Amino acid sequence: MAGYIEKGAIRRHELVGPEIWRMEIELPRTARDAKPGQFIDIRIPDGTRILRRPISIAGTDPGRGITEIFYRVVGKGTEILSHLKAGDVVDSLGPLGNGFTIPDGHIVGVGGGVGIAPILFTARRTQPGQMTVAIGGRNKEEVFWKDFFPQTLRELIVTTDDGSYGVKGFAIAALPDIFAKGPVAEVVTCGPGIMMRKTAELAEAAGIPCEASLERRMGCGTGGCLACVCDRRDGKGHYKVCLNGPVFNTKEVIL
Ligand SMILES: Cc1cc2nc3c(=O)[nH]c(=O)nc-3n(C[C@H](O)[C@H](O)[C@H](O)COP(=O)(O)OP(=O)(O)OC[C@H]3O[C@@H](n4cnc5c(N)ncnc54)[C@H](O)[C@@H]3O)c2cc1C
Ligand code: FES
Repeated sequence: MAGYIEKGAIRRHELVGPEIWRMEIELPRTARDAKPGQFIDIRIPDGTRILRRPISIAGTDPGRGITEIFYRVVGKGTEILSHLKAGDVVDSLGPLGNGFTIPDGHIVGVGGGVGIAPILFTARRTQPGQMTVAIGGRNKEEVFWKDFFPQTLRELIVTTDDGSYGVKGFAIAALPDIFAKGPVAEVVTCGPGIMMRKTAELAEAAGIPCEASLERRMGCGTGGCLACVCDRRDGKGHYKVCLNGPVFNTKEVIL
């Protein structure tokens, strides 16, 4: 398993959306090395939980030595994280995983829920005008992410299921128009399974390579427990998201 342990103080910790927290951590080595699509495995500081919790890297500021994450409180581990304060120390293992390929040319990102985090990191690392992003949420409270994307995107399309902000509907609905406007070098996606499946179908139908970051539940994180497996499309068994991913070419996996 690649990655290294790095411990650093929280510089900023704030509630930014419904049960969603943003954390800036002083992890200079991780900030220097991380690639979009990679994640860090965070130790829960209560002395009882052995398994670390995987969280995508949403951005880095190598100059300030900062690594940024967004996480949703879903269980005890993330709840304990949410009580940490600026100055408390986070124990990170990472950066882990393979990351997105990010070729030259127009990149289209599609994200939903906390799966927007790796799309945000990708957007922050691409060239001005290189990337179009479509993000969706159930309502306007869930699309706070829009404020964190760089102004230099080619376009940022925001959708809400109830129409309370941006375009009413799902983020994937924007894809046919985007594809019709000109060549796309790659589509990158992360979020709910159905969203990634539809994104992959539309990209494949348009002949565009597509990569998806799979946020499977993880156990050991080292390939031993099979908690994180996803089926291979070629029928030859499975991949382990912790070892072979989390980013996969969508032609290789069943989403
Ligand atoms: C590569 C990767 C990147 C991730 N990036 C992020 C991120 O940027 N932000 C973020 O908020 N979360 C992310 N996750 C999910 C995050 O790891 C889990 O939400 C977290 O481990 C839950 O820990 P817990 O102790 O709070 O919950 P637990 O007590 O372990 O579980 C509580 C509930 O959440 C469900 N759950 C646990 N893990 C997952 C998961 N991976 N996917 C879906 N449901 C899960 C459980 O089934 C259970 O119902 C990522 C997961 C992976 C594998
Ligand atoms: S988390 Fe155990 S095999 Fe991937």
